[in-house]
Amino acid sequence: MSGQPMLATYLAENAALIEAELKRSLPEVWAVPPRLRESMDYSLSAGGKRLRPVLVLAAAEAARGGESDREAALRVACAVEMIHTYSLIHDDLPAMDNDDFRRGKPTNHRVFGEAMAILAGDGLLTHAFHMAASARRYGADAGVVLDIVEDLSRLSGPAGMVGGQAADMQGEQGATALPELQYIHEHKTSDLIIFSVTAGVRLGGARAEQLARLEQFGRKLGLAFQIQDDILDLIGDESKLGKKTNSDTAAGKVTYPYLVGMEESRRLLAQFTDDAKQALLEARLPKPERLVELADYLMNRDR
Ligand code: FPP
Ligand code: MG
Repeated sequence: MSGQPMLATYLAENAALIEAELKRSLPEVWAVPPRLRESMDYSLSAGGKRLRPVLVLAAAEAARGGESDREAALRVACAVEMIHTYSLIHDDLPAMDNDDFRRGKPTNHRVFGEAMAILAGDGLLTHAFHMAASARRYGADAGVVLDIVEDLSRLSGPAGMVGGQAADMQGEQGATALPELQYIHEHKTSDLIIFSVTAGVRLGGARAEQLARLEQFGRKLGLAFQIQDDILDLIGDESKLGKKTNSDTAAGKVTYPYLVGMEESRRLLAQFTDDAKQALLEARLPKPERLVELADYLMNRDR
């Protein structure tokens, strides 16, 4: 058919590349307190699907039509995984969701204590910008890198992921309606996915109108991803998810299944996935097939 490796092989190979790069990301010669380094590394190397960094790599390949500039894309891929990992560490803290397990392991604060977990998150957040900016030294155009850094700040900051998390914390069953829930999902989840796919195609040399379509692809893919996350929290397998299920219900969280029911949530999941693929095809990238495959895979994932 397309002559490309199977998706499972692609995911495994790229996750390994990303994990090797993450291991090297904080230079050994930097004088980092060992316990802080250990705490950052604990969560960074705890596994996870590596979805966001894989999307950076796949989007760069889709726009370029090949695998060139892999090194620069890997730096940006690590940057978004660091932001994502910091957000999970902080999300799990007692002041937020107060969770004991993540990615099949005790949460960061359960191992290192709350203060060190907060600092590990802070360290990952700040180091992410170093990683993104460093793409310039790995062959990416300096102007493109600056655009990527600007996007990363906006999409992970107060109008992005942090804003979505703040709205999520203020949400209440009985008070939060669909438009607010959509705001929460678009920002706490879609924005990093939008970042990943637009940063990838920026590195691959995409034009402005293609970027706009990819932003839409990321938004819809993120909404679909979060609905599946909410569904899995209700009916998923704890051993596959690596964390406790029914945490949303226990915490009184407003989710799609809570607001519109399971059947309608499943319909919306399929609808948003279709919308995402449509926007992607409209971008007319040279090689979109892998991104289409990833969208289908995410809709059917069990972890
Ligand atoms: C699971 O990702 C995570 C989400 C679906 C996003 C939830 C958003 C937050 C927790 C935002 C927190 C923000 C702050 C500022 C604290 P995944 O299934 O890709 O996890 P994995 O990487 O472990 O596979
Ligand atoms: Mg949360």
